[in-house]
Amino acid sequence: MLKKILLTGSNGLLGQKIIDLLRYHTEYELIASSKGENRYPKEGGYIYENLDITNPLEVERIIAKYEPYAVINTAAMTNVDQCETDKENCDLLNIKAVEYLIKACTKHKVYLIHLSTDFIFDGESGPYKEEDEAKPLSYYGQSKYEAEQLLLNSGIEYSILRTIIVYGVAAKMSRSNIVLWAKSALEKGDTVKVVNDQFRMPTLAEDLAQACILAIDKRAKGIYHVSGKDYMSVIEMVKRIAKFYNLDESLIVETDSTTLNQAAKRPPRTGFVIDKAIKELGYAPHSFEEGLAIVAKQLSN
Ligand SMILES: NC(=O)c1ccc[n+]([C@@H]2O[C@H](COP(=O)([O-])OP(=O)(O)OC[C@H]3O[C@@H](n4cnc5c(N)ncnc54)[C@H](OP(=O)(O)O)[C@@H]3O)[C@@H](O)[C@H]2O)c1
Repeated sequence: MLKKILLTGSNGLLGQKIIDLLRYHTEYELIASSKGENRYPKEGGYIYENLDITNPLEVERIIAKYEPYAVINTAAMTNVDQCETDKENCDLLNIKAVEYLIKACTKHKVYLIHLSTDFIFDGESGPYKEEDEAKPLSYYGQSKYEAEQLLLNSGIEYSILRTIIVYGVAAKMSRSNIVLWAKSALEKGDTVKVVNDQFRMPTLAEDLAQACILAIDKRAKGIYHVSGKDYMSVIEMVKRIAKFYNLDESLIVETDSTTLNQAAKRPPRTGFVIDKAIKELGYAPHSFEEGLAIVAKQLSN
């Protein structure tokens, strides 16, 4: 019998990549869910449920209906500046909803995979290991950290996959990402202002989706750092995007974080040590340029 997997936030970038991997799977049956209509472009090989995870009765109803083997929670308020200005809704989606999922997973004895972020760290001493001390600078980071604490103290079987700058392309996306944004702006001939004082390890959405499945396969427990393997400044990232897609690098204007008027503070140097995921999960991320090639191919189809 196939093991049922309930996916939340399936309209999102990571969500759609997980559907790609779990449709017509030989071991798993996928119940994809998101708030509102299904935006995944293909039918067949999975079930879709409209599920707003901020509604505790609905969370309980869907988990009781399917009694899944695992839940993958990708739904979140992911816009960092919006979290700073709309703390109430950030709390609701990034913390309260996780509480509702934990409650239902406790009742039905379900294994929960939850996604978290490098923004739980202050960025003073990256790349970070799983056990390094969290010190969020932003409300988004704080909300994701509080959700981690709920899981830690829950008593359920869970795994937290922390990730960094996820990039890729999916259908009818509600938000862009650095690769699509830089590519499109440079193609239009726009100048782009990019910071030189933030360092990250960008993550191909397909790699992160694969890590979620690997975690389920192994029923992995605890925290895993799951990002790309290349560490670079954001300006280098954009220059590498320009070089890869043959775009005009002279349009890239170097700046630093103090000149951007962003509501939320960003950690300067994050990045992860990903050895644990490689060793324990068999995680094998692409290089940044391999990831750009995969995105290019998808955009041309
Ligand atoms: N993207 C990154 O750079 C990044 C970095 C670090 C960590 N993460 C974490 O990785 C996870 C996945 O990120 P992502 O990039 O795939 O995010 P995303 O593209 O923003 O996807 C999140 C999805 O959740 C849906 N959603 C919103 N409210 C909901 C609700 N109340 N109930 C159910 N679904 C709801 C959204 O629907 P709509 O599209 O209709 O709004 C969206 O499709 C998140 O937990 C995020 O915190 C992401």
